[in-house]
Formats: sequence, C-alpha cells, structure tokens
Amino acid sequence: MRLNKKIAIVTGGGSGIGRAAAVRFAKEGATVAVADINSIMGEETVSLIKEVGGEAIFVKTDVADSEQIKQLIQITSNTFGGLHIMFNNAGIGNSEVRSVDLAEEEWDRVVDINLKGVFLGIKYAVPEISKSGGGSIINTSSLLGLKGQKYMSAYNASKAGVVVLTKNAALEYGKYNIRVNAIAPGVIDTKIIENWKQNERKWPIISRANALGRIGTPDEVANAVLFLASDEASFITGTTLSVDGGGLTY
Ligand SMILES: NC(=O)c1ccc[n+]([C@@H]2O[C@H](COP(=O)([O-])OP(=O)(O)OC[C@H]3O[C@@H](n4cnc5c(N)ncnc54)[C@H](O)[C@@H]3O)[C@@H](O)[C@H]2O)c1
Repeated sequence: MRLNKKIAIVTGGGSGIGRAAAVRFAKEGATVAVADINSIMGEETVSLIKEVGGEAIFVKTDVADSEQIKQLIQITSNTFGGLHIMFNNAGIGNSEVRSVDLAEEEWDRVVDINLKGVFLGIKYAVPEISKSGGGSIINTSSLLGLKGQKYMSAYNASKAGVVVLTKNAALEYGKYNIRVNAIAPGVIDTKIIENWKQNERKWPIISRANALGRIGTPDEVANAVLFLASDEASFITGTTLSVDGGGLTY
C-alpha cells in the first residue's frame, strides 16, 4: 500500500475530486479526516471509506475560517496521532460575468475559500506535519490558474495565487521534510461544472478543448494527487502538475 500508516486531511472531501482522493488515500492505507462545509456529503464520503474497509472521520469545516482549520488539524491529530498529508482542495467557482460586473463580496468569498483557505491549510498543517516527521501538502489550483479566461477573474486569480503560494511553501518547509505541490485539473466531471454542462452552445466546445477531446474524471485527478502524496514523489516539490488531458497545450 502506497500510504501505509499515513494520516491525511482532505478538504472539500464531500464531493468530486476531494471525495475521490479521500477514498483513494484510504484504499492505499491512510486514515483520513474528511473536511467539508457540507456535512451530509462529508459523512457520505466517510461511509464510502468505511465500506472499503478504511478508517475515516468527518470534521465540518469552512476552510476560509482560521478557527475551523485549527480545530480540524487538532481533531485529526488527536484522533489519529499525527498528520502527514494535507490536501487543500476545497474550492468554489464564480458567477461568469465581466470583472466590472463582479460584486466585491463575491470576489472576497472566492478568494477567501480558494486562496486564503489554502494559506490557512498550510499555515496550520505545517507544524503538525513537522512534528510527525514530515510529509506532503497538495493544493488544488486549476488549468484556469495557469491561463486567462474571460468572466472568471476571481476564480482565475485565486487559482493562480495557489501556484505561487505552493512554490513559496515548498521553499520554506523543505528543510522540515515537507514537500508542497499543486495540481491543475482541466475540466473534470464534478458538481462545480454543472452550469457549463447546461450550456448547450458552449458545452460541446468546452468539453473537447484539450488534446484528448474529453473531460476527465475525479478518479483520474485522485491518481495524480495520490502520486504527489506518496513517497514515489519524494524528490518533487514546488511544482504544479497539470491533470488536464492536454488542456493547457491546446
Ligand atoms: N471540476 C473541475 O473541472 C475543476 C477544474 C479545476 C480545478 N477544480 C478545483 O477542484 C477542487 C474540487 O472541486 P470539485 O471539482 O471536486 O467540485 P465539487 O463542487 O464537486 O467539490 C467541491 C467541494 O468543496 C466543498 N466546499 C466548498 N466551499 C467550502 C468551504 N468554504 N469549506 C470547505 N469545503 C467547501 C463543497 O461542499 C464540495 O464538497 C476545487 O478547488 C476546484 O476549484 C475543479
């Protein structure tokens, strides 16, 4: 097993990429704390993990709230006896409008969850992972953090911020044996893209805009996250791994 005896937190673990990664981590031997703002979905992920013989707890968490992140890390460490893997994955999209029409409140909420949430995850996980002898932090950026796209300014800016934050953290915490990497998924079949799917005109274009001509699955992203979490990636830090079917090169 690739994560034998490892202790992991997955934020946004109630759905999509986070759920797929949480289940995959557990199948590979990790004990998992599933963190999500949605209790029903988070508890469902815990049940899925238990069904495959894994060990998991749910901790209701808003990643934009530092007290809740602190509590998440404390509960995980107290329950399982440490922390090795932090997957800072929770995220939301923004209303597709021009920057001039985007409400300031919406900008703040998107950046608070997608970027500050990752900052808080790093800030409070690093001391705990360090105490456990080191480990791996993986942050979810996006294809849209690496390129521009009209009407997605808050989302794109937040995800671009994750790329550089990841590099900074890699430089700061390598000496504690903590690797910090990001993933940049392309279009993946989860709840976050539901609106795009409803758009009969745009969806055929969006869904094929990469080298493979199809969208990805949460499991395909979880495979990449598992690799970065595992010792197989022992000399990889500060990088952003595209998991986009060639979307960035398109
Ligand atoms: N699906 C895609 O096409 C795609 C592409 C690139 C990046 N991403 C990123 O992948 C990550 C996971 O998204 P997904 O595609 O699985 O979507 P999803 O909507 O299925 O899952 C997101 C999860 O995050 C949770 N969440 C939202 N706000 C939260 C908060 N404040 N605190 C804690 N949890 C919160 C939601 O309840 C949900 O369970 C996000 O960061 C998203 O931006 C997704």
